[in-house]
Order: sequence, then C-alpha cells, then structure tokens
Amino acid sequence: MITLKSAREIEGMRESGKVLAGVHLGLRDLIKPGISSFEIETFANDYILAHGATPSEKGFEGYKYATCVDVNEEVAHGTPRRDLILKDGDIVKVDLTVNKNGYESDSCWSYAVGEVSQETKDLMDVTKKALYLGIAQSEVGKRLGDIGFAIEDFTENKHHYGDVRELIGHGIQPTMHEQPDVLHYGDKGEGLRLKAGMTITIEPMINEGTWKIKDHQLADKNDPWVYYVSADGSWSSQYEHTLAITEDGPEILTSQDAKEDAELLAWARQYIKDNNY
Ligand code: MF3
Ligand code: CO
Ligand code: CO
Repeated sequence: MITLKSAREIEGMRESGKVLAGVHLGLRDLIKPGISSFEIETFANDYILAHGATPSEKGFEGYKYATCVDVNEEVAHGTPRRDLILKDGDIVKVDLTVNKNGYESDSCWSYAVGEVSQETKDLMDVTKKALYLGIAQSEVGKRLGDIGFAIEDFTENKHHYGDVRELIGHGIQPTMHEQPDVLHYGDKGEGLRLKAGMTITIEPMINEGTWKIKDHQLADKNDPWVYYVSADGSWSSQYEHTLAITEDGPEILTSQDAKEDAELLAWARQYIKDNNY
C-alpha cells in the first residue's frame, strides 16, 4: 500500500531530515585520514540523540549501529569498525536513517578522505548527478520508470559505470521501508505514476566496474549482518535523499545545501530535456 502524506506529516519529515542533514554537515569536517569508521558512528549517534531524535537503523532487523559505513569497494550495509582506519585517497559512504517525533528520514552521502584520485572524483560526481537526475524526474504525473531510466542511461550508457540492481530506493514513512520500490533502472513511461504526497528515497549505488555485487561475511561471526562489496572489487559511490512529491515539484527533505541543490536540479532539468528522458 502506498500512503499519501499530509502537509503536517511532510513537515515532520522535514524536521527529521534537518537533523540527518546536520549529521552529514558535521561529517564533512570529521572525515579525514587517520580516523576509524567507528568515529563516524559515534559522532552520528551522539548528534542524533542530542537533537531529540533516534537512529532508526539501530535495532532494525538486528542491526546494531546508527550508521552504515562503507569504504571503497564496499557497496552497502558495512558496519562501523574500530579497526578500520580511513586512509588518504579512500572513498567512504555513510548511510543513516533518523526518527524524530515519529517521522523518518534517510540519506547517504559519499566523502573523499583527504585527496582522492581523479577517477574517484569522477565516480562521485556522476553518482551525485545521477541522484539529482532522479530527483528532477520526481514530478507529479511522471512515472517511477522515468526515474530509473534517467539514472541507468546516465551512469551506464553515458559514463560506462555499473548501476547496482539488487539494492533499491523505497517509500518511507511511517517506517523506514515502505512501498513503492524505487528502482534505479527501468524504462521511461513505465511503472507507477507519481502523486503529490508520496514520500520516497532515491539512492543510486554506482560502481566503477560491474554492477554486480556479492556478499561479504563480517569478521565478527556472531553478527548476522553481511555487507555487500562490488563483485569485481571496483570502487563504489552512493548518494541518497528523502523527498516529497508535491504539486510544486520534488522537495528534498534531507537537503544539506539549498544552493547546491538548486544548481544540480537546474543542471539535471536541462540534461533531461537535451537527452529526451
Ligand atoms: N538506510 C538504508 C536504506 O537506505 C537502510 C540501511 S539497513 C540498516 O534503506 F540495517 F542499516 F538499517
Ligand atoms: Co539509507
Ligand atoms: Co534508503
């Protein structure tokens, strides 16, 4: 079932999203060579609690942490590790979900650790643009396939990256994962038609090599969670926002920087026009 949210519910999610965005803004300063991936977890957990919210990933299907922290070829569901020290040139993805007053928000961001290679900068740039292409497609009357098609064509046909298929975006609120499934690939004009009041995430995971991923058993054999790595060991980037579909267009509820959002959306709208997406 897909529920349409009222203005009041969207306001609640916006407040949740502000706390989440605050975590990401803090991580921009925190992330540097020499810190452990667990320091990211501690910062995020403390920040969320200090802002009157709770980390929804903690306790979700037995997951123990506030954040998923994935480094380099790790694609998703990486657990924070005290013995994983970030090095100059790494790429680290931090994905978290916040609950404030019953309202959920979910956002992942990719961070360069120190100075990264041009290849890594390009991967991050294309992945971020893929997210904003998906957001720009999130208009009343368009379809889920329009979102997926734009992301797939841009990342795979134009940039020859791997667009991960197994992990997808989703509806959100009242719980973290709701209907509909939001695929990052597809056919334009196909799938569910978007309506005002839908709240969804878009969260493309883009690999430098193959789109295929494989399970990677955690070092801690007592922890049932496995994380995913790219099947060929190539590096991966991810960006995720929570958005509300409104009559006035998509609203990014986990916005970190309104000016950057506006610039990326303007670029995406032009790209969509030029490429007839
Ligand atoms: N935040 C993730 C998503 O984008 C979910 C992470 S799984 C968890 O859907 F176990 F960490 F919660
Ligand atoms: Co997420
Ligand atoms: Co999500």
